[in-house]
Amino acid sequence: MSTIAQTPGLLKAIRDRFAHVDYCPLEEKSRVFFENAGGALTLKRVGEISAHYATIPDNQGRANEASKALVNVINKARADAAILLNAKSGQIFVGESGTELLFRMIRNAVLSAKPEGNVVGSTLEHPATRSAAKRWAGVAKVPHHLAIHNDDTGTVTVADYDRVVTPWTTVATIIHTSPVTGMSVDVKAIAAFIRSRAPECMIIVDGIQHAAHGDLDIDAYDIDGYAISPYKVFSRHGYGIGWISDKLTMRAHDELDKGPAGNWELGTRDTGAYATFSAVVEYFEWLGSQFEPDGSRRQKIIAAGKAIKAQEHALTHAMLHGADNCPGLIDMPDINVIGGIDNPHREGLVALTHDNISAAELVEHLNQRGIRTHVRKADHYSGNILDPLGLDSCVRVSMCHYNSIDEVKQFLVALNELQ
Ligand SMILES: Cc1ncc(COP(=O)(O)O)c(C=O)c1O
Repeated sequence: MSTIAQTPGLLKAIRDRFAHVDYCPLEEKSRVFFENAGGALTLKRVGEISAHYATIPDNQGRANEASKALVNVINKARADAAILLNAKSGQIFVGESGTELLFRMIRNAVLSAKPEGNVVGSTLEHPATRSAAKRWAGVAKVPHHLAIHNDDTGTVTVADYDRVVTPWTTVATIIHTSPVTGMSVDVKAIAAFIRSRAPECMIIVDGIQHAAHGDLDIDAYDIDGYAISPYKVFSRHGYGIGWISDKLTMRAHDELDKGPAGNWELGTRDTGAYATFSAVVEYFEWLGSQFEPDGSRRQKIIAAGKAIKAQEHALTHAMLHGADNCPGLIDMPDINVIGGIDNPHREGLVALTHDNISAAELVEHLNQRGIRTHVRKADHYSGNILDPLGLDSCVRVSMCHYNSIDEVKQFLVALNELQ
């Protein structure tokens, strides 16, 4: 299969589909967007669709054609999302945000589990799962144990979970990709290991940082819950997308008395939110069709995932090793990269520090040159990764497949000024 870079005109066609690719409308100036882990670029189509549905007064579930059209949009988006996620069973639903969905899934799983169990997760996790598991394990009066992630590789493995999972583990959480190290986790292997020791365990996965990098395959993971934040995968803010297994669907949850069984949605849905997610799935299909024009919808999505991975690998490789005559990060003696240089788990993200310049100063230096990155501080979001490394902060440079090698070179030139 060829790559995005090898296909003439494709990177431009990709960039044309996104809003504000290289110009910030708030700062009113050109910029390189390397803050994709904070929120990916938004498809132009998402903006158009949102504006359209925001003006429709009709509600769902009424006996008129407009109302039926809205319900069809929601049902289509659920079916589209199921193809993107490769989820042939269970249900897709929306909530307030990825965090809210994770809290809800974890709360319902923990409170409906056997009282003598335990809850496990890992130190790699974002507080969205860690805080929820800690809180609800406390309320249920069961222990919450954490697998300790590997500081050198920036990820967590079966061997780490092996130390904490017991036959009595009732709920386990896994992060798919760390938003601080940028390294992915082998969810399938960890879930299989948990099931081998605790077959009935509810396994809930935070897919929020992973989703934009393609390669979503819930059927293969054998899990019970998965959450994503659409604004991190080319849609917009204001909602989260959750998937739950049939087993988790039937566990006790908040619902209207005498309402439809198994409904996890609370209140009237925003049809526009659902519609924007269909646009995201269409985008993945369009991208995949550049490589697999005759494939099924799912095959196109898989092809898109591979193309995304290859492009992101090319971008991070150029950043780390240099491009053309621009020295890379490995040539800058004062720069340290979290998780090592050629880490196979890396998903488009490079977290770095400078021996003599603070992360805040580096980010400002890059800002001044029109390059948007982000400081991660050792706070409640990133302390779990930075504290064990003895760091108070780092610079997070997060890329996506629509970024270009030229943008990486601009970044390297700006950083080389400090050498
Ligand atoms: C891995 C991960 N989990 C959870 C969250 C929280 O997502 P949200 O604020 O969209 O609910 C983030 C946000 O950065 C994240 O990267």
